[in-house]
Amino acid sequence: MNLQGKEIVIGITGGIAAYKSAEIVSRLRRLGANVHVIMTRNATEFITPLTFQTLSANQVVTDTFQAPEYWQVEHVALAKLADLFLVAPATANILAKMACGIADDMLSTTLLATKAPIFAAPAMNTGMWTAEATQQNVAILKARGVHMIGPDSGRLACGDDGAGRMSEPADIVKEIVLFFDKAEDMKGMKVLVTAGATRERLDPVRFMTNDSSGKMGIAIAEAALRRGAEVTLVHGAVTKAIPGGIRTVPVESTQDLYDAMIREAPEQDVVIQAAAPADYRFRDRQNSKMKKTAEKEITLVLTENPDVAAAVGERKKPGQTLVGFAAETDDLEANAEKKLKKKHLDLIVANDVTKPGAGFNTETNIATLIWENGREEQPLQQKSELAEKILDKVMELRG
Ligand code: CTP
Repeated sequence: MNLQGKEIVIGITGGIAAYKSAEIVSRLRRLGANVHVIMTRNATEFITPLTFQTLSANQVVTDTFQAPEYWQVEHVALAKLADLFLVAPATANILAKMACGIADDMLSTTLLATKAPIFAAPAMNTGMWTAEATQQNVAILKARGVHMIGPDSGRLACGDDGAGRMSEPADIVKEIVLFFDKAEDMKGMKVLVTAGATRERLDPVRFMTNDSSGKMGIAIAEAALRRGAEVTLVHGAVTKAIPGGIRTVPVESTQDLYDAMIREAPEQDVVIQAAAPADYRFRDRQNSKMKKTAEKEITLVLTENPDVAAAVGERKKPGQTLVGFAAETDDLEANAEKKLKKKHLDLIVANDVTKPGAGFNTETNIATLIWENGREEQPLQQKSELAEKILDKVMELRG
């Protein structure tokens, strides 16, 4: 793989690991990337801009001699140019500034302005890394899609032993290459994702729904888009904004979802059903608001909704890959396997929704991926990371 034509901006902050970034720059250059370096004032205390200017063959941007008026304009150019932004080493300070949106120097200003994917390789003392503030900042950044590389554990410059050492330059470059590699692997594919909760109306002002936030489905749609697919998102109620570039089909009830899927699914290469459709609806939907009566108890009758995933499974086209989810509280794997077979799925993502950090309305998830001939445990991770793992598995199963 080469990085020919890729514009990579590297932000270097003030840590002893800054010297290792020289190797990152030279490795990226050897792979064909055009590298632009921004150094914070503190970084220039550890290593000179001249080193990076020589290795990158580009002017290095520093704040040392440049007034704020300069970077107010200049940051826009690099922010727009970047195909990928790497911060290495990333100190606790820059992570905190990124998490809060602080823009008080060239690097933080450019980071705030860029729309490019951001990677950060933290490097700091173990105490600073494990501090609650840093961990919360990292969680915020991950939830926003920032890719964290490392840190590794080992002996640190300060003499401590523990987590906080910047990942090796070779590993950092490998992650970047992998990112660009993956970026293209779904090109030309049509991917349909479902997300969110359905609403089953009782009357014009009341409905029955569930806790699904749509975050998992949106994360998958976003990942598929980034990997080059043409993405359709059929969604019920969601709590998160849907990024641009994704074709959206809003639905309300399970019946609406069913109608949309029967129409849309046949022309898709991959269908991933992360929505939480209600299994039942009110049998007697009222056209006027139900009035309170003198009765102490009333009975509302529920009637079965269609199983959308099973219907899509029955109509499965040759070459299509179908993925479902299973939200379980008991017998996770056995129940998920039953659903895999019953709904003619190629892959099922089983969630034990009783585990903290898994399931509905969280930023994270814990899952077991189950397919005909295997299974894979996915530990607690951001939904955006799990989305990539699901797509990796889909691509692997498609061969
Ligand atoms: N699903 C569906 N239509 C339904 C219910 C579920 O398409 N009426 C889909 C979900 O999108 C998910 C999968 O089927 O991909 C499993 O959903 P889940 O709620 O775990 O399972 P159910 O089949 O509804 O079974 P149960 O509620 O009994 O666990």
